[in-house]
Amino acid sequence: MESKLQFAQALVRQAGSYIRQHMSDDLAIETKSRYDDLVTNLDKDTQNFVVEAIQTAYPDDFLMGEENNLRHPIKDGNVWVIDPIDGTVNFIVQKEDFAIMLAYFEDGVGQFGLIYDVMQDKLYSGGPDLPLMMNDQTLEAFDNRPLTRSLIGSNGSMYAHNVSGISNLINQTLGVRVYGGAGISMAHVLSGRLLAYFSHLYPWDYAAAQIIGSQLGYELLTLDGEQVDYQSRQMVMFIPSAYKQTIQDYMERGK
Ligand code: IPD
Ligand code: CA
Ligand code: CA
Repeated sequence: MESKLQFAQALVRQAGSYIRQHMSDDLAIETKSRYDDLVTNLDKDTQNFVVEAIQTAYPDDFLMGEENNLRHPIKDGNVWVIDPIDGTVNFIVQKEDFAIMLAYFEDGVGQFGLIYDVMQDKLYSGGPDLPLMMNDQTLEAFDNRPLTRSLIGSNGSMYAHNVSGISNLINQTLGVRVYGGAGISMAHVLSGRLLAYFSHLYPWDYAAAQIIGSQLGYELLTLDGEQVDYQSRQMVMFIPSAYKQTIQDYMERGK
């Protein structure tokens, strides 16, 4: 598995370098489901680049990817899950705070995940029995710091509307941070900058973080505390397992 992870690490770094080289070109921007759900030619080019490299190296493997309707079921065989640019709105408007995400599963079991913060050149990667790293630094497990000394990341709208009591929970902490990208936000959980993250996500948004986080004391669950389905868009929380009950109690009281 180590050589497959090394292949994936080199691949996302190459894809990031491609994005950095082309991000000042004129972008072709299209809307998808609504006015703020955007895709650019670079999202599509990056996914094609990653898909072609995987198919060449591992022709028997399958793909689930955000663009081009790649939807192989997660539990069937060797499956790569790809989000070529996570945080496309940040990419278009701010030219930073976006990530490439890649995850790899065998018969539904997560083997490794990668979140690459393209502009900071920070690669978070690892999985069960693999090193858990940010570049050459080892990622630390959750340190049980108190809620009252923590920040929580959230989708802005879910926080504003107190969905499932999220704001009541966050009001017990030092506050909310809204970064506008699932990958960057969950990388901040993995590095200890955020205690937890709440959002409305697709499988390619959460796959990599779930695999890495599960080795560091974190869980990725629906807001009801159920397992995610790897099929639909769901409201989810990425939380330290040690605070699961406390977090659910605050949310329950705030509903
Ligand atoms: C989106 C971003 C956003 C989150 C959305 C995602 P995209 O991914 O991560 O922060 O709120 O749910 O779909 O479309 O930029 O890859
Ligand atoms: Ca995307
Ligand atoms: Ca995404």
